[in-house]
Amino acid sequence: MGGLWQGIRRNKNQWWNPASLQYVRVVSSRFIYLFYEREHLMTDMRILLVYYSWKGHTAKVAEHLADLLHTEPVRIEPAADSGMFKKAMKALLGWCSPIKPVKEDLSDIDVLVIASPVWAGKVPPYVNEYISRLSMCEGKRCYVVVEMGGSGAENAIRHLKGRLENKGMKLAGSTWTIEKDVDANIVYDHLIVFAETIHGKKSVSS
Ligand SMILES: Cc1cc2nc3c(=O)[nH]c(=O)nc-3n(C[C@H](O)[C@H](O)[C@H](O)COP(=O)(O)O)c2cc1C
Repeated sequence: MGGLWQGIRRNKNQWWNPASLQYVRVVSSRFIYLFYEREHLMTDMRILLVYYSWKGHTAKVAEHLADLLHTEPVRIEPAADSGMFKKAMKALLGWCSPIKPVKEDLSDIDVLVIASPVWAGKVPPYVNEYISRLSMCEGKRCYVVVEMGGSGAENAIRHLKGRLENKGMKLAGSTWTIEKDVDANIVYDHLIVFAETIHGKKSVSS
C-alpha cells in the first residue's frame, strides 16, 4: 500500500496521472492475488522451480513465480566464473559449463519449471549443464520462462524444448519476460496467468 501512496506523491498528487495509475494497477493486482488467487492456486502438485540468473532479473521473475506456485526457487550456480566473450560463445554454440551441486533427481517431483535468461538467442551454458544432469525425469511435465533484453525468446524456448525432450520430458508451456518490464515491476499479472497455466487452470500459454 505504501508503494501506492509513494507513487501518487511522486507524481505530484495527480492520481489520474498515467504513472500513478500504473501504481494503482500493480497494487490492486497484488491485493486480488493475496485475497483470491493465492488460495485458488493451492495444489498438491510437487513443483521444482530452478533458475539461473547473472544480473538478477531472472532471479526476480523466479522468486515471483515461486511465490505464486508455493515453492522455494532453487538457483543454478556456476562452478567457476568466466569472461563475457566465453559466456556468449558457449551459449551460442549450445555448450555446457560446470555448475555447483543442485537438485537434479526428479523422482519426487511432478513438474519442473526452469527460468533462464536468453543468451545469444539460446540459454546460458549453466542451464544446458543442468538439463544434461537431470535424472528420473522421463515423461514428466516441464515449463519454461525465459527473460530477455528484447529478442530471441522464441529461439531460446525452442532450444530448451529440444534439450528437455531429449531427456524424455514434455514441454507443456512457456512464456517470456522482458528486462525493462522486470525493472518496472510490471510482470506480476503475466506471471499469475503463467502460474495458472502450470496448475492446469488455464490453457497452455505462448
Ligand atoms: C552473454 C549474453 C548474451 C545475451 N543475449 C541476449 C539475446 O540474444 N537476446 C536478448 O534479448 N537479450 C540477451 N541478453 C540480455 C539478457 O537476456 C537480459 O539482460 C536478461 O535480463 C538477463 O537476465 P539476468 O539479469 O537474470 O542475468 C544477453 C546477455 C548476456 C550476458
